[in-house]
Amino acid sequence: MTTPASDHIDAMLHEHRVIHSSDDFVARARVSREDYDRLYRQSIDDPETFWGDVAGELSWMTPWTKVLDWQEPHAQWFVGAQTNIAYNALDRNVERGLGAKTAIIWEGEDGEVRRFTYAELLREVKKAANALLGLGVQAGDRVTLYLPMIPEAAIAMLACARIGAAHSVVFGGFSVSALSGRINDAQSRVLITADGGQRRGQLVNLKANADEAAQQTPGLEHMVVVNRGNSNPPMQAGRDLWWHDVVGQASDQHEAVPVDSEHPLFILYTSGSTGKPKGVQHTTGGYMVGTYLTTRTVFDLRDDDIYWCTADVGWITGHSYIVYGPLLCGATVLMYEGAPNQPDWGRFWDIVQKHKVSILYTAPTAIRAIMRQGDEFPNRHDLSSLRLLGSVGEPINPEAWMWYWRVIGGGRCPVVDTWWQTETGSIMLTTLPGAFPSKPGSAGLPMFGVDAALMTHEGEELGPDDGGLLVIKRPWPSMLRTVYGDDERYRKSYWGEIPHVYFAGDGARRDQDGYFTVMGRVDDVLNVSGHRLGTMEIESALVAHPSVAEAAVVGRPDDVKGECVVAFVLPQGGHTIDPVALRAYVSKEIGALARPDVIIVGDALPKTRSGKIMRRFLRQIAAGREIEGDTSTLEDPSVLERLAATEAV
Ligand code: PRX
Repeated sequence: MTTPASDHIDAMLHEHRVIHSSDDFVARARVSREDYDRLYRQSIDDPETFWGDVAGELSWMTPWTKVLDWQEPHAQWFVGAQTNIAYNALDRNVERGLGAKTAIIWEGEDGEVRRFTYAELLREVKKAANALLGLGVQAGDRVTLYLPMIPEAAIAMLACARIGAAHSVVFGGFSVSALSGRINDAQSRVLITADGGQRRGQLVNLKANADEAAQQTPGLEHMVVVNRGNSNPPMQAGRDLWWHDVVGQASDQHEAVPVDSEHPLFILYTSGSTGKPKGVQHTTGGYMVGTYLTTRTVFDLRDDDIYWCTADVGWITGHSYIVYGPLLCGATVLMYEGAPNQPDWGRFWDIVQKHKVSILYTAPTAIRAIMRQGDEFPNRHDLSSLRLLGSVGEPINPEAWMWYWRVIGGGRCPVVDTWWQTETGSIMLTTLPGAFPSKPGSAGLPMFGVDAALMTHEGEELGPDDGGLLVIKRPWPSMLRTVYGDDERYRKSYWGEIPHVYFAGDGARRDQDGYFTVMGRVDDVLNVSGHRLGTMEIESALVAHPSVAEAAVVGRPDDVKGECVVAFVLPQGGHTIDPVALRAYVSKEIGALARPDVIIVGDALPKTRSGKIMRRFLRQIAAGREIEGDTSTLEDPSVLERLAATEAV
């Protein structure tokens, strides 16, 4: 295993700045340093009481008999309890007097604004729940969602949860084959999509992709189509239905279905180091408690906050911190449909100013892209409503951290870096803003109940200042329960790599104060603009093209994207590689996010005598670095020089 090295990782290791929240912030904070010390201890020493108290703030139709039942690697949280997460996010908030409070403020890329109060959102979700029931969707079924960032995405997710059906959201940027593969894996009979979504002034035609995908999904019976773009797509009689018809005509009376705490809530596919994407399975009770607690404490959420997370609902960040966590807390959530540079790079700041956003949660890649355009875009806007900033998805380099803090936060807003994963369901490492100062580039300390450590691959625990593999030593409520349809893969990938601990796939360091700095993946998973991509997935797509005989994909540090995709390819005899066609092919197979940034056409790959590709050397070549390490195990070391001298296409 190797750790990707990059300039910004070097920068993090040499970073010693400590940034304190203001005295005012600390004085009012939800969680003080004393609270953290006490509650963290309790969460580790007496998890029954700690988690029981948190869960007790939410509504359960039947109480639990036991907080945790752990039969490694399978956990059950809130055993025997029944609840409904959509009930908790909506009905409960209406019942406690928040019916007239704004739940969602949505802004389209074209500037259109729609608002839903909690009462209105509840009504829409009830109607959508009845519409799904009318299509024969039952508790325990899976429904696939392939939607742009529109309120209907949240409504559809909550409607599934309300009737006990699991949703499987497929990011709108994924291709036809990625979509059909996920529909088939989840055996969904219903797909909810839209005619399109606005992106950089264009309507991205999701319905056309869905139609093509449906040719390879024999089990799919219905497609419910939201009319976002008035683009008048072809509708297949008997199969396709307009959302405004089925939901529009449905009754607004519906009682949320009580489900077992361990009832599946959703599947979300994510890339691993081998094979096809894994369907990460989350369940109801523990995920609800985990997202509720972290949203309230990490973002120090208040009744009057306007909270904006810029992720897409197609990723876990959108699930946990656009939809479930904030709505469980009764927050006002801003949702934005489009690109950050539409019509120009001031769009985020225009939205912050217009809607008086007070909490902003975004990704380092967005911060770096915006930072590059200069300070004039943020400086042209009034950002005084902001009081807290968050970062997620990849390591944030100290330079971008400082810019975010200084230029966007005016030096007044704490910045919380948050480390977590699709699998963890909720935030695992952070600096709670009223309890701890931040260290730019360092994710911070474990959240409540998170027993994080660094280990060697053999399971030996490492002390401060050592680098190692990041592991979690005990189960936590919002953790994944299995890989959908492949429990063996769950056992092996997460609890089998290092005995008796959860292996995250990341390398990290810890300093004397206990702060973890996450360095990046130690497996063959890339993080491109905060999106997780498996190198194997991209390689499979490349070699499926007739012109390619062999391919090896590695990441290269990139100033904006964090990492970019570098593909080394060998042509198939008699073929020449057309880079434009090859990139288009990968886009079609996986999605534009996986398109190789750099293609290097070679005549051989660096392999050991047993045929293993030595990616370490390819990473060095991709980064333009000197070759370091023992090359004597290579079958033909001269390959390295030839590849290093080859111009990329
Ligand atoms: O490598 C870590 C990186 O993103 C991976 C998880 O990706 P995904 O499941 O798509 O979830 C992303 C959003 C939670 C991790 O294994 N990562 C995520 N957040 C951070 C991070 N790396 C460093 N610092 C972070 N704050």
